[in-house]
Amino acid sequence: MVAAAAPQWIVLHGRASSLVLEACPDEAPLWRYWGPRLPDAALPAAPLRDGRPEPTFTVQFDQPLSLAPGLGQGWFGEPALQAHRAGQGWTFQATACGVVEEPGRAKVTLTDAVAGIALTVTLALDPTSDVLTVSTILTNTGEGVLDVQWLAAAVLPLPAHARCVRSFAGRHNIEFVAVEDPLTRSQWRRENRRGLTSHDCFPGAVAFADGCAFGAQLAWSGNHLQLIDWCDDGRWQWQLGEGLMPGEVRLAPGESLQSPEVLATCAADADGVAQNFHAAVRTRMDWPGGAMRPRPVHLNTWEGLYFDHDEAALKELAEAAAQAGIERFVLDDGWFHRRNDDTSSLGDWWPDDTKYPQGLGPLAAHVTGLGMEFGLWVEPEMVNPDSELYRAHPDWALQVSGRPLITARNQLVLDMGRREVRDCLYERLAGLLSELPITYLKWDHNRDLTAAGERPSFRPQVLGTYDLLARLRAAFPAVEIEACAGGGGRIDAGLARFTHRFWTSDNIDAVSRVAIQRGFLQFLPPELMGSHVGAAPAHATGRIQKMSFRNHVALPGHFGVELDLRKLNARDLARLAEGIARYKALRDRFHAGQVWQGEAGDGLLWQAHGSAEALVLLVTRLAPQTHRHAPVLRLPMLDPARRYRVGAVIHHGAWLVQHGLELPPLPAESGLVLEVTAL
Ligand code: DGJ
Repeated sequence: MVAAAAPQWIVLHGRASSLVLEACPDEAPLWRYWGPRLPDAALPAAPLRDGRPEPTFTVQFDQPLSLAPGLGQGWFGEPALQAHRAGQGWTFQATACGVVEEPGRAKVTLTDAVAGIALTVTLALDPTSDVLTVSTILTNTGEGVLDVQWLAAAVLPLPAHARCVRSFAGRHNIEFVAVEDPLTRSQWRRENRRGLTSHDCFPGAVAFADGCAFGAQLAWSGNHLQLIDWCDDGRWQWQLGEGLMPGEVRLAPGESLQSPEVLATCAADADGVAQNFHAAVRTRMDWPGGAMRPRPVHLNTWEGLYFDHDEAALKELAEAAAQAGIERFVLDDGWFHRRNDDTSSLGDWWPDDTKYPQGLGPLAAHVTGLGMEFGLWVEPEMVNPDSELYRAHPDWALQVSGRPLITARNQLVLDMGRREVRDCLYERLAGLLSELPITYLKWDHNRDLTAAGERPSFRPQVLGTYDLLARLRAAFPAVEIEACAGGGGRIDAGLARFTHRFWTSDNIDAVSRVAIQRGFLQFLPPELMGSHVGAAPAHATGRIQKMSFRNHVALPGHFGVELDLRKLNARDLARLAEGIARYKALRDRFHAGQVWQGEAGDGLLWQAHGSAEALVLLVTRLAPQTHRHAPVLRLPMLDPARRYRVGAVIHHGAWLVQHGLELPPLPAESGLVLEVTAL
């Protein structure tokens, strides 16, 4: 009797999760496990390959889920790759597999000598954050052009006990609308073709199984697709990748396509997934000087003044801002050549000489003289047909000849794939950054892409923007950048590599904002979440909220103010200054450590920042209480063996974990901030 060969496991362990693949000769490694941490001793002693009885009436070669399932070779689910060479070479099946393992990572190279294709899948599981980073490179090793329709950046397994998936939909002004779908035999699919990350479809989700949750997000700022597909053994595969248009990727012999990265994690629940994502994104951030400094309080001029830029009024506003404790003054849209409304001038990035006869220098000097930083709004990828730039270079706008140019917010999109376009933008932006004391850019993008080029250029568009951002960051390393796209249309972990803040939504209504911010925090940490105190009535909704409530909702993010301070009454101004002072006192606590979010019952929302040592607890009530008494808030993250001070009262940890904290009744649209500190 011949002894069975020992199984070849590829195993990566995180702090609380593990993944296991079975490497077999000449085929893609098979997914065996991704879930809570396993001891090495738990791995089966014998190979699992070919261990399953053959089902009736199907192929006689067992085809479990692999790292790169192929088409046409007995895998009937979604393939990881869809490509062809003028109608041929469409079946992908690895004929050789090489695995290189290093601590915490595995690089799997799959070659298909028949189709002339190579795939390299890299998996790295960070033991600290417990986040798995996966990406894939496709290389055309054959002859002739390879047309690529789909390349999964990652193929992830979900267990048969997965039940549902929470993803995020929305629109301009209402981002991060949570949608929960059951997992069934029908394929679950979320796809975005808007050319940028989109308000409508965040490129990530959280899947829930018995006793654990799985999160994944694509670090990419363009078209994307994610799907969850039922497999014949009752498990699921989750694929995420860049969405490609027909003909968008055509690889010449020897050329490669690098996928974006997928960040994925498994934890006990949605909070655990968020905490892991926050830790991973924090390690990927590129802060000026190498480390985040306390997030400065912003004044953004947009909703206070819109296009109505008057230098004297702006100086007054800056004075009021400095007096209220604001630390960074961001001059939004309306400052450049002939920009008096949204019908013209994008592309003409020099100061308007009627509004600013001596340029922006005097205003910037006034702002910095008051002890604040000076920031400037730009929208580099855009051009209005009514602009000097468009008149000089009409061919620079993305278009398809023979088709009408489709404007959105009266603007067109520049072709960021063209070097001369990027060079021109670089020169104009670098000129501003060199001439003025600008330490901050708010980088906007106010439309979806439609006919993006004669050949679809969605991908070059994203890569071109990344390239321009990288060039500017290298030349001006002290400058921070805020990513905005009509609010939260471009929020993703890919752009976070180059930027330092996201403008979460154009909707600053504090009630609307609560759900938007809770969705944001599922994937990205609070220090990147721009959160402003706006005017009452809120411009997006017309609703009126008290200043104390507006302060409360903005408090845990990167705090800012977006209203005309000169119009506030003395009481609101004093309240706002109190809010700013409270933010300054607490920001280091909000922007480090972990975040938990929950509902205590009867609509009472809570959010905790910190650790079991010390928490800042935010309790928020939106709608009136329906119970006669307020709910009790359990704090399961605390240490049951310790004692805690909450205000003037000492509680036992076990009491707070099991019974909870008694709360006072709160009126609708109000909040409470409590500090919980271990003794
Ligand atoms: C959309 C942004 O989200 C706003 O904050 C503002 O910057 C406007 N664009 C300016 O046009």
